[in-house]
Amino acid sequence: MSFPSDFLWGGATAANQYEGGWNEGGRGPSMSDYTTGASSRTHRLITYRMPDGTTGALDQMVNQGLPERAEYAVVDGYYYPNHTGTDFYHRYKEDIALFRELGLKVFRMSISWSRIFPKGNEEEPNREGLEFYRNVFEELKRNDIEPLVTISHYDDPAYLSNELGGWMNENTVSLYERYCHVIFEEYKDLVKYWLTFNEINSAVMILAFVPNMPNEVAKTCFVKLHNQFVASAKVVKYAHEHYPDFVIGCMVAGMTTYPLTCDPKDILMAQKRTQDLFWYAADVHVKGKYPSFARRIWRQYDLDPTFFEKDTEVLNEGKVDLFTFSYYNTSCITTHEGVELDGGGNLSLGAKNPYLQYSDWGWAMDPDGLRYLLNELAGRYDVPLMVVENGLGAIDELEADHTVHDDYRIDYMRAHVKAMEEAIEDGVDLIGYTPWGIVDLVSASTGEMRKRYGVIYVDLDDEGNGTLNRYKKDSFFWYKKCIESNGEDLG
Ligand code: BG6
Repeated sequence: MSFPSDFLWGGATAANQYEGGWNEGGRGPSMSDYTTGASSRTHRLITYRMPDGTTGALDQMVNQGLPERAEYAVVDGYYYPNHTGTDFYHRYKEDIALFRELGLKVFRMSISWSRIFPKGNEEEPNREGLEFYRNVFEELKRNDIEPLVTISHYDDPAYLSNELGGWMNENTVSLYERYCHVIFEEYKDLVKYWLTFNEINSAVMILAFVPNMPNEVAKTCFVKLHNQFVASAKVVKYAHEHYPDFVIGCMVAGMTTYPLTCDPKDILMAQKRTQDLFWYAADVHVKGKYPSFARRIWRQYDLDPTFFEKDTEVLNEGKVDLFTFSYYNTSCITTHEGVELDGGGNLSLGAKNPYLQYSDWGWAMDPDGLRYLLNELAGRYDVPLMVVENGLGAIDELEADHTVHDDYRIDYMRAHVKAMEEAIEDGVDLIGYTPWGIVDLVSASTGEMRKRYGVIYVDLDDEGNGTLNRYKKDSFFWYKKCIESNGEDLG
């Protein structure tokens, strides 16, 4: 048996995509509340209103900036899927009962910052918001499920982002600290596992797939990221000092970039891409300092090293206890001309890998890549690892008898569980697995419902029609057996 007996089998979600109740319980809006639904062919839009009442929409992927005097707004005629998510806010008891039946040991969820501090800068938290999560954590406890809480998952208060300068403003660090101090104290007896920021490296990953980004905009990505590193380090240190039982980790978007050919120039290119977009963030979190190649990156973007180096001590004092990451796909890059970049992925773009199969959304399915990445991480770091997102976004068919025959998802999960098992046999200290969107939820990139990851089906479509009823897919029964047998029975 390869999986340790206390292996944390689980499932993952995020408030902005799952919770709903966007304007209930005193919650303030976050940017996802102004973001429309889209599809794999169209980009999501962010809507706004002018003082004269006229409205408009910006492409989420292109940094156009708001027209002068415009304000982000919910505008008639658009559909905002994150407003409802899949309604965990009202259905958490029903969902937690399903998680128990499934056998989950751990449930990854996030707290919506604007439910606790609606604008981000209040002196006192919103008690109703605190009560909601207390109820959820108590319900999880009653069901013997350990929460794994992401403190910030693409869900900053809109006011903080738009009026207070967001992560460009160093003062946001202290607002984040205040938020963390409140939730740590409030839930200290209910939550042990915490993650400071979801996919923190997403701030710079966009550099690889947004074409022609002006250098001035690219520079801001590194500044925002640095301020988040500082915020993370400060609350990790605070947690270590005040709550020694906490396990506090980072969450980095797992990125494996293969060279498309064995041309040494391709090898170097893939190495550099991985340094820039993955190790840069991972090393700061785990080693508590910027890696040697950071200076090359700062030079490349004409960034002043003293800005990053002024916080050397803070970063060193806030090293994480646990390294967690998302893993969906791998990508290939090349220096060679004329190669089409038609292989998509989570925050990534590259050439198609002829040895791999692709999902309906063009993401490469690569379980060996997971084993490879786990080994890379274990060789570099001395902290336990956890895969906190993984899964296949696919179109599911709900049959008349409310079954869903998702063999493709079972195949994907089985292959990735086997890859984790092999990695453990390789010597990797892997402590848990929380597949993404264990209950169907809104896609982050497209806002679609039809891109489903769950083992639990939710009756809701891309236009917001549906009962929101939950149904168990075939993958539910497969995963249940996998958990019961601690990864032995993979059917
Ligand atoms: C990760 C995010 O990037 O990938 C999740 O942490 C997201 O929030 C997931 O949902 C899958 O991406 P998508 O775009 O298919 O929802």
